[in-house]
Amino acid sequence: MSTSTATPAVRAGLRRTAELEAEIARDPGAFRVLTGDRPTGPLHIGHYFGTVQNRVRLQRAGVELLVLIADYQTITDRTATASLPADVLGLMADYLAAGIDPDRATIFAHSQVPALNQLVLPFLSLVSVAEIGRNPTVKEEMAAAGSAAMNGLMFTYPVHQAADILACRANLVPVGIDQLPHVEISRVIARRFNERYSPAEEFFPEPDALLSTAPLLLGTDGKKMAKSRGNAVPLSATADQTARLIARATTDSERLITFEPDRRPEVSNLVLLAALCRDEPPEEVADDIGPGGAAALKAVVTEAVNEKFAAMRARRAELANDPGYLRTVLATGNQRAMVLASTTLENVQRLMHTSY
Ligand code: TRP
Repeated sequence: MSTSTATPAVRAGLRRTAELEAEIARDPGAFRVLTGDRPTGPLHIGHYFGTVQNRVRLQRAGVELLVLIADYQTITDRTATASLPADVLGLMADYLAAGIDPDRATIFAHSQVPALNQLVLPFLSLVSVAEIGRNPTVKEEMAAAGSAAMNGLMFTYPVHQAADILACRANLVPVGIDQLPHVEISRVIARRFNERYSPAEEFFPEPDALLSTAPLLLGTDGKKMAKSRGNAVPLSATADQTARLIARATTDSERLITFEPDRRPEVSNLVLLAALCRDEPPEEVADDIGPGGAAALKAVVTEAVNEKFAAMRARRAELANDPGYLRTVLATGNQRAMVLASTTLENVQRLMHTSY
């Protein structure tokens, strides 16, 4: 999205993000990041370039990183939970392979931190049903499912997400533009809690959104990348699986390869993918391929993806073979998150006069 077409809220968010990046460079130790994913299957390269790479960058800059495996959020829109153990460990393997350092980061799961979930109750009293209903994601879900079919957890999930952030007293939430309203609800809840129960001294820090400036990578069909659409290349795919997925990608019949996202979205998206993998400007990659047509483009993309991810994939395969280790990392993270969330809950109970 270009800044000129962005809404005032997004423009303000981008300005704030620039300030925050400068502060991070100056004093990374002042920041605690919370971010997370739903464990609904393996991460794909869109996640990698969109968010995971940024987390690794922040961690290397010296920011404290907490990563939430949002297992309770998966039951907002699905009922089957039998695959969760494999999905949770798979996500853990993706994180570690991508460079999230288990010795420095705290990786934990919703369901294992009761104190975090208990915060949802007082938080629900701080926002109105109408306010939650105005959240764009909730609104979309409501339109898709109809309010009769939507369950209460889906309706209240922005509040649950506020509990994720505030339980850990995180002050920085790296998100895409679409998640900005969620961070806003967290800020409102923090502010109202402080006003109502801790007027003398601010208890909850108001978390800031750190907006991603990564270019949006689409799926191999030029549409939103999603595992469920079969248009995503998983981080864990083999070189052959990658080649097959790229071979099926949508292109056009023009021989000259160019980077023109508006006019040629599918071809440009493939060029962008190769460019991200090679860490080069997309225009340069397109010039390199020149008049080679779709076949040359696909060969370049396949090679770029396989080269970029070869080491990560090898490391991921090793990690996936050691579920005991992955469980240990998760247990350690759960324990750390539990300490943070329990301390927050104790303070909340004290401030709300509910400790007897
Ligand atoms: N909603 C996020 C997703 O769909 C996951 C998530 C849960 C999250 N809680 C969070 C992200 C708190 C940032 C902060 O992937």
